[in-house]
Parts: sequence; structure tokens; C-alpha cells
Amino acid sequence: MSVAHRNGAAPPELVPGASARSQPVITAADTEAGIKVSEVSKVFGRGASALLALDRLSLEVAPGEFVCLIGASGCGKSTLLNLVAGLDAPTSGEISTGGQRVAVMFQEPALFPWLTAARNVELALQASGVPKAERGRRAARLLDVVHLSGFAGKRPHELSGGMRQRVALARALAQDAEILLMDEPFGALDAMTRDLLHEELDRICAERKLTVLFVTHNVREAVRLGDRVVVLSSRPGRVIEEFAVPVRRPRRIDSAEVAGLASTITDRLREEMIRHGS
Ligand SMILES: Nc1ncnc2c1ncn2[C@@H]1O[C@H](COP(=O)(O)OP(=O)(O)O)[C@@H](O)[C@H]1O
Ligand SMILES: [Mg+2]
Repeated sequence: MSVAHRNGAAPPELVPGASARSQPVITAADTEAGIKVSEVSKVFGRGASALLALDRLSLEVAPGEFVCLIGASGCGKSTLLNLVAGLDAPTSGEISTGGQRVAVMFQEPALFPWLTAARNVELALQASGVPKAERGRRAARLLDVVHLSGFAGKRPHELSGGMRQRVALARALAQDAEILLMDEPFGALDAMTRDLLHEELDRICAERKLTVLFVTHNVREAVRLGDRVVVLSSRPGRVIEEFAVPVRRPRRIDSAEVAGLASTITDRLREEMIRHGS
């Protein structure tokens, strides 16, 4: 999927530099892999009730890179992810995913409760155009990738929260996407389940060379997973600082190296929240 949009629907006073052009702009980045977000602003609503959620935000994720996005609640993280996913359009600016397939995973697994784990995954394969005869075998293989082989015939209510998120991950992988967008996917899980899923995500991303944009409000999780951690300002969201994560994998969320960088990033976030008065 390629997303490259620019339109001028926003009140201009809210979006400095907003363009009046309404045609999608195909950028040079469309021919490259990775994610490129250029000067993106997003305004919700109109007139007196208009709310500037993102303010000329620019961000690049290199092909195969794992970038974590962190910021205070309400700073526009989900808004940005939805824009990159093409679920909503920016008010101004450009987003390119280089013509690649994009899969999205949210905090809620949103599985069909009346379908088994395997059928939930098969549905995604069907949507991706995989022939019927192949779907069963492919779904079984994907459930194996997320270590759920023994649970293919179970319905969501028979699975734990962690298992349901594994099914959601298998379903995202079923789309055979090069880009994976994740919005606090492990936010509702207990720490041990989350640690296991971190290990699996590490392995799957390396094997499939996925480009990942991962939203979290958990600083340690961001450092545990990311090649880079991007810190957003309080609303309206802008990038205020980026931290490379020079910690070798495999990583542990409770290691001294992860904790050390996480505390530096937490200080930066705290400074921003105090500046903003939140
Ligand atoms: N569809 C929408 N309509 C109106 N306001 C929205 C909508 N989506 C998000 N917002 C507002 O935009 C801001 C950013 O929201 P969001 O991206 O969900 O933040 P985060 O994910 O960082 O917590 C919030 O103030 C939120 O209330
Ligand atoms: Mg959110």
C-alpha cells in the first residue's frame, strides 16, 4: 500500500505552511522502502472546536528498522499511526510507505469471537488473495511462527490475552506486509507474557526484515525493542528528540543498559510534560 496525500482542508491559521493543493503528491520516496513522514499536520474538527493534534511532524523509518514512538497520552501517537496506515488523511504534509504492504496491530486483538484462531488468520489470508486450497496450510504455519500450533482450533474466549495477541500478530503477518504498525499492542498484557512476546517479535522482525513503527507509552519497552526511540512533544505532537539504542540483542527489559537509557528518556519526557503543564 502506498499512502501519499496532501490536501488543504484545515483552517490555515492552525497549520502554518499548509498547502492549498488537493491532489495526492507522489514523492521520490515512493520508489524506496521504509516510511517517510514529511511535515505532517493533523487537525480534528473545524472552527472554534478545531484541535491541532500533530504539528508539522517529520519522521523517517529506514527499511528493516524498528522505531518506537513515545510520548504523553493524547500527544498524537495513534493519530500518526492511523495516518501512516492510510486509515485517515493528514490535513497537510506527505506520507509515503513506498508502495509497500502495511499491516496494523492494536491493543485490542479484535478477533471474530465465533471463529477459531486458525479461521481468524485464514480470513486475513483470504483478504490478501491467497487461494482457498492454500489458506489452511498457511494459517497453520503462521500460528506455528507465533508458537500457537496447539491452539488453532480454539475460539478467542478459550485463549489467554497473550494468546489472543499472538493470533492478532499471526493475522497481521498473514497480510505479508513489509511494514508493521503497532499501537500499544502489548499494553494490556502482564509483564511475563509481554516479555515473551517481545522475544518473538524480535525474532519475527529479524527473520522477515520488517520495517516497524511501534507506539508505546512504556519507555522501557521502547528501549527493549527499538533500534531508535523517537520522543514526541505533548500535544500538538512534534518530534522533540531521538535516541539511538546501542544495546546489543538479545536484550532484556530489566537489564542495566536498557534501564539506564530508559531513565534518560523518561527524564526528557518529564521535562516536556512539565513544560506543557500536564
Ligand atoms: N477522530 C478524532 N476526532 C477528534 N479528536 C481526536 C480524534 N482522534 C484523536 N483526537 C484527539 O487528538 C489528540 C491525539 O490523540 P491520539 O492520537 O489518540 O493520542 P495518543 O495516541 O498519543 O494518546 C487527542 O487530544 C485526541 O482527543
Ligand atoms: Mg493512542
